Amino acid sequence: MRILITGITGFAGSHLADYILEKFPEVEIFGIKRWRSKTENIEHLKDNVKYFDCDIKDAHNVYEVIDEIKPDKIFHLAAQSYVPASWEAPVETLTLNIAGQTNMLEAIKKVKSKNSDYDPVILVAGSSEEYGKVYENEVPIKETNPLRPLSPYGVSKVCQDLLGYQYWNSYKIRVIRSRAFNHSGPRRGEVFVDSNFAQQIAKIEKGKQDPVIKVGNLEAKRDFTDVRDIVQAYWVATDKCKPGEAYNMCSGQTHSIQQVLDKLLSLSTNKEIKVEEDPARMRPSDVLILSGDNTKFKEATGWEPKINYLDKTLVDMLNYWRERV
Ligand code: GDD
Repeated sequence: MRILITGITGFAGSHLADYILEKFPEVEIFGIKRWRSKTENIEHLKDNVKYFDCDIKDAHNVYEVIDEIKPDKIFHLAAQSYVPASWEAPVETLTLNIAGQTNMLEAIKKVKSKNSDYDPVILVAGSSEEYGKVYENEVPIKETNPLRPLSPYGVSKVCQDLLGYQYWNSYKIRVIRSRAFNHSGPRRGEVFVDSNFAQQIAKIEKGKQDPVIKVGNLEAKRDFTDVRDIVQAYWVATDKCKPGEAYNMCSGQTHSIQQVLDKLLSLSTNKEIKVEEDPARMRPSDVLILSGDNTKFKEATGWEPKINYLDKTLVDMLNYWRERV
């Protein structure tokens, strides 16, 4: 089997490659990356993955890669994934996320039309951010909840998700529409909340930052899952889920950002850290609560998250930063 991971240099992509190498060593893994992408997350994968330089905004480039590899499974994870960056530069986020996926689906369509027995499955990465404004009486969120995105990023993910629906219905391209909720772990980008707090604590412990941790909105609530559980969910989804259907992927462990901060502070060796609100970290329209119902996905696949977010994911993430700052 040949599989392609877009966004392999990123957080979830590199963990997915680790998972496949460990569980299915016979699978051939291909990855695409931009020539200027940082490669620290994939240094350890060097000998086990074949890379293609490819910009997903370039339709012909994407077509050439799909035509050459003809992957059986595609995990389309490449995206601009940081919500605040989408307010700073909405066009970049919308273009990369929507055009990138359209190029991928069009490439599959073309290669399929030339090779009648080519019938890959593609997992597209939607997000719980698609649900956006959710009222307290609408949780836990099911796949049938309304989509009310509150950022250009959320809008881009609704579009990616619905493109998946459309390409299945129009061309029978087997698209699995994943809607993962927040996921974390070692290698998580430093801009995301838990990773950012963990990095600040590690710096404070080493005397590289004053003992003051900067924070944004601590009242928001998120459903957190360990990335190592999410990548397993991505894999089983491509074996067991129905094309054209959307699936929530989440643990159901919902915590306020205040709880995440408190847990990380309790893990620190420095007990004198002060907390300071940083106005620059507040959002024009924050999503207040994302708490998911994963029944549909569990029934389809038998997947169960195994890693406790507060007790394991956060500890691993803090240790990851302690080794790096
Ligand atoms: N980043 C950040 N930094 N967020 C903060 C901070 C801070 O200092 N302080 C509080 N927050 C709050 C944000 O306002 C938000 O409510 C919450 O923490 C989580 O922020 P992020 O970690 O940036 O993640 P996100 O929920 O916006 O988006 C992530 O999850 C989505 C799935 O729900 C990203 O990984 C998306 O790519 C993903 O689709």
